[in-house]
Amino acid sequence: MLRNSSSGYGWVAIAFHWTMALMIIAMLALGMYMHRLPLTDPGTFALFQLHKSIGFVILGLAIFRLIWRFANPSPALPSAMPAWEKAAAHLGHIGLYALIFAIPLTGWLMVSASPWNIPTLLFGAVNVPHLPVPAALGTKAEAETLFKDLHELFAWLLILLLVAHVGAALKHHFLARDGVLVRMLRPASRTGAQDRPDAGQRV
Ligand code: HEM
Ligand code: HEM
Repeated sequence: MLRNSSSGYGWVAIAFHWTMALMIIAMLALGMYMHRLPLTDPGTFALFQLHKSIGFVILGLAIFRLIWRFANPSPALPSAMPAWEKAAAHLGHIGLYALIFAIPLTGWLMVSASPWNIPTLLFGAVNVPHLPVPAALGTKAEAETLFKDLHELFAWLLILLLVAHVGAALKHHFLARDGVLVRMLRPASRTGAQDRPDAGQRV
C-alpha cells in the first residue's frame, strides 16, 4: 500500500502529490502577493524569507519524489483512453515535474545573482549558500533580472499546465468516471483492482 501497484498509486506517491500541490499553490499566491509589496517594509523581508524557505522545502521534496517515482512506475492509464490523451497526460506530468524543479532553482539563482547579496535563512535558522552565477550572464543585476523573468515565466507556465491538469482530472471524474482522480486520493484495494474493470492494463 506504500508503493504504487500496476493499478493504483501507493500512499507515498499520494502524500507527495497532495502535500506538494498544496505547498506549490500557496507559494504561487504568496509570490504574486509579496512581489507587489514595498521593499522598504520590514514585513516584506519576512515574507520573502518565508517564500524562499518553503521553496527550498519544495525543492527537497521534489528530489525525493523523483527518486521515488523512478523506483515506482506509475499505474497504467485506463485502456479506453485515446492514445493522444495518454500522450498528453504523460507530457503534462513531465512538464509538471520539470517546473517543480525549475521554479525553485531559478528562485535560488535569482537571489544568488542579486547585487543586494541578501542571505537566505531557512526558517530563520540555517543559512543557505548562494549558487555560483556564470560571469557570461553579464552584471549581477542583469543575471538577477534574467532569473527573475524566468522564475515568473515558469510560474505562469505552471499555472497554465495546472489548469489543464485539474480540468483533465475533473473530466475523468465526472464525465469519463474511470477512477483516475480516485486513485490519486486513495490506494488501490488489497485485491489489486481499483474501481474499474480495465485497471492494471499497461499502456
Ligand atoms: C515551487 C516553488 C516556488 C514557487 C511556486 C514560486 C513562485 C513565485 C511567484 C509566482 C513569484 C511572483 C513572480 C512575479 O509575479 O514576478 C515569485 C517571486 C519570487 N520568488 Fe519564488 N517561487 C518558488 C520558489 C522560490 C525560491 C526557492 C526562491 C529563492 C530561494 C524564490 C524567490 C523568489 C523571489 C526573491 C521573488 C520576488 C521577485 C521579485 O522581486 O519580484 N522563489 N515566486
Ligand atoms: C501544483 C499542483 C500540482 C502538481 C505540481 C501536480 C503534479 C502531478 C504529477 C507530476 C502527477 C503525475 C504523478 C506520477 O505519475 O508520477 C500528477 C498526477 C495526478 N494529479 Fe496532480 N498535480 C497538482 C495538483 C493537482 C490537483 C489540484 C488535482 C485534482 C483536482 C490533481 C490531480 C491529479 C491526478 C488525478 C493525478 C493522477 C493521474 C494518473 O492517474 O495518471 N493534481 N499530478
